[in-house]
Amino acid sequence: MSESAIVAGDSSVYYGSGYWNEIPAVYHELNRRATGDPDKGWMQHLREYHGRPFSRLLSLNCGNGWVERGLLAHGVAERGVGTDYAEDLLVAARAEAAAAGADLEYVQADINTFGFDLEGIDLVVNHAACHHIAEIDRVMRAICRLLPEDGVFVSWDYVGPHRNQYPLAQWQAVFDANQSLPAALRKDLRYPHMRSMLAGDPTEAIHSELILPVMRRYFDLEYVRYLGGGIAYEIFNFNPPFHAEPRPDAEIARILDLDLAYLGDDPEANTLFAYVIARPRKAALEDTRQLARWTAEELQREQAARAADGRYHPTGLLEHLYDRQYSLETAVATGRPPAIDGETPSLLRFWAARWRRRLRSVARRARQAVRDRRT
Ligand SMILES: C[S@@+](CC[C@H](N)C(=O)[O-])C[C@H]1O[C@@H](n2cnc3c(N)ncnc32)[C@H](O)[C@@H]1O
Repeated sequence: MSESAIVAGDSSVYYGSGYWNEIPAVYHELNRRATGDPDKGWMQHLREYHGRPFSRLLSLNCGNGWVERGLLAHGVAERGVGTDYAEDLLVAARAEAAAAGADLEYVQADINTFGFDLEGIDLVVNHAACHHIAEIDRVMRAICRLLPEDGVFVSWDYVGPHRNQYPLAQWQAVFDANQSLPAALRKDLRYPHMRSMLAGDPTEAIHSELILPVMRRYFDLEYVRYLGGGIAYEIFNFNPPFHAEPRPDAEIARILDLDLAYLGDDPEANTLFAYVIARPRKAALEDTRQLARWTAEELQREQAARAADGRYHPTGLLEHLYDRQYSLETAVATGRPPAIDGETPSLLRFWAARWRRRLRSVARRARQAVRDRRT
């Protein structure tokens, strides 16, 4: 059970622009990878897959509600309920649902402690939601309990490394792909900065790499498509030349080819995103000893992270190196020495030397000024 909600202080972090899937060619390629048809999105695919409308959906961490409005508009479900922590997003969701005449209601809750006390839910929707969930086992188990045997859990989400801390080999592949671009299209690549992530949104990709393994504990994954992103996501996100007309179509296609190839022989390990249609496996709820072990493991993990400023894993090499780079850049930009922690004595030496040099030069200029005045 959570002691206090792990949430972002400001919900505006959730709806920015400049992401890879806003590039039309990327959007169509993701459709193709998910549904086999560049012009068919996952909502239409789900409608056809199920063959009839669901009666009532639950949209997890629904944000501003565009997902469940879209699902109702596509005839995927007749009515639904959305839940989210951010009340301002729910206000917008309620207003839009009313304007669209959509039969949707909204409940404000922390998903980690939500009771899932809802009637008649036969579809649970995870769109970019589960990668924000701390108590992922608890939530997946509750969804398994909530759904009827023939119910569906549909998921379109980031399932890559926690907090986007990509392994060295992947970052090298992103770097190589970036270097292969003409200079004008190259991105100033930045490894995702852990301290900024923890400060801006401590839920971001909190246990993303656990989504599929934990889902498998409670669900049969009937339809799984690995959407990739291992190369293209970081290169296309917030890289202006790819988001303006005329678009560099040939280079977009080439990076998407590299991205697809990067999935390789182990797509689950190499993908950043996945589209899944799953059915609850009710038998999983009967093994009470196993359930107790998973609960204990989760509680221990969360308690340990609370005691470690929200960190679940030791500092990685890339995290450490980029943290130094950010500290130096911030220091140069602000003219203030970087915050030095115990791990960075070389930075301390660097700044001590720099400030000694500066003080010497000020003293030299002062002495010269005194001499000039005398003569
Ligand atoms: C990336 S957004 C996705 C929103 C929506 N599903 C969509 O696809 O547009 C993540 C959402 O998770 C919500 N969220 C984060 N932590 C939460 C928590 N502990 N309980 C409930 N909602 C949470 C945020 O407020 C945000 O709306």
